[in-house]
Amino acid sequence: MTAKLDTATLKQLDQAHHLHPFTDFKDYAEHGGRIISRAEHVYIYDSDGNKIQDGMSGLWCCNLGYSQNTIKDAVAAQLHELPFYNNFFRCSNQPAVELAGKLCELSPERFQHVFFTNSGSEANDTQIKLVHRYFDLLGKPKKKHIISRINAYHGSTIAAGSLGGMQFMHEQTIGLNYVHHINQPHWFELGGEMDEDSFGIQVARELEAKIDELGEENVAAFIAEPIQGAGGVIIPPATYWPEVKRILDERDILFISDEVICGFGRTGQWYGADTYGTEPDLITFAKAVTNGYMPLGGSLVSNKVSDVLLSGGGEFAHGLTYSGHPASCAAGLATMAIYENSNIIEETAKVLAPHFARNLRALEDHPIVGQVRVKGLFAAVELVRNKNSRERLAPDSAAAVFCRDQAVADNLMVRQTGDAMIMAPPFVTTPAELDTLTAKLAIALDKTAKHFGVA
Ligand SMILES: Cc1ncc(COP(=O)(O)O)c(C=O)c1O
Repeated sequence: MTAKLDTATLKQLDQAHHLHPFTDFKDYAEHGGRIISRAEHVYIYDSDGNKIQDGMSGLWCCNLGYSQNTIKDAVAAQLHELPFYNNFFRCSNQPAVELAGKLCELSPERFQHVFFTNSGSEANDTQIKLVHRYFDLLGKPKKKHIISRINAYHGSTIAAGSLGGMQFMHEQTIGLNYVHHINQPHWFELGGEMDEDSFGIQVARELEAKIDELGEENVAAFIAEPIQGAGGVIIPPATYWPEVKRILDERDILFISDEVICGFGRTGQWYGADTYGTEPDLITFAKAVTNGYMPLGGSLVSNKVSDVLLSGGGEFAHGLTYSGHPASCAAGLATMAIYENSNIIEETAKVLAPHFARNLRALEDHPIVGQVRVKGLFAAVELVRNKNSRERLAPDSAAAVFCRDQAVADNLMVRQTGDAMIMAPPFVTTPAELDTLTAKLAIALDKTAKHFGVA
């Protein structure tokens, strides 16, 4: 490791040379940020000496916190044994082989194949190529269109960004012309006077209408996150997924469940698809597959799709230098071992999640809280000025930005999306630490209410 640099030097070099993701470059060059220097359990430490409780599991990926030594040791050992070799040209490596098998073993039985990438974005790019290849091999080359949802987040490569429904991203890049977006199941934002269940059915039926508009013979797939994460932890009404499933069951269209956030226990079960009883043909995974310690993503392919891909013959024209990187896969295997050898997902669902939900529901009475959404250790708190009309506190998400800044200043890392405060704490957070998280959030809400003139 290189010698430690002092904070001032680090910040200066960072501002001078480092372009950060999803950041206003001009603003960052002028004002800079903070240097995170180490992490332990559920705490990150910055170079100014702050100890910050992480309410976001890093970027929704360190579900098991920062102190999983078996994962760190597995990566180090793998780097000594085989630091790299590619999986092209009829080569493979043990961690990639084992992890592919393990992910299939831990997934619903119909999933027996895995394609590895380095990230969730690349995994969703891969999904597009897989579904196109599938229908080409079936002799249905017209089936190229993909339906997604407004405000979805599927990554930031050009293809994944096109699949996503983030308007501000589409404004900067021309998206793929075969991707189409229907409304999101966001009752609080879009439901108006409708009850949640009726809204859920109505918005699900937009999928049916879009398929009919495009022509079923032209549509390849529907892609969706079980719960939209980056879009604001949008937990759909109970009627939504059953109605989507009914529509998909009746149509010759593949379903891609983007489990990059929801996968590996976030919603209380192994996949979000398990929580909602959907039956995807393809699963996108990344993030928590290595507990965020190494870059890794991929596509899990069900037999329905792999039977066609494997019997069709001909090269699949897609791959990444680091597809199935041995050190990343070693991290994945060590992560899966923790899940398998402990009952952390069950315990989280049984003990921590209800505790978290109780804490957050107690905030429903707060004058600026319009809605609390929570599933597993995944939550959003919507800020409003008027609970009945759902009038927002301030334009341009200013209230939630203010609230987030208050929480961060109080050493609690949470996020803001639109007018919602977003949380996804690690599963190793203790009940007492969840209480601290909620208490700090409540203080931030109080300060926000005062700042924006709500008693
Ligand atoms: C649901 C979902 N899909 C895909 C991605 C993209 O993953 P990555 O940032 O690893 O490319 C993300 C990232 O947050 C995500 O939340």
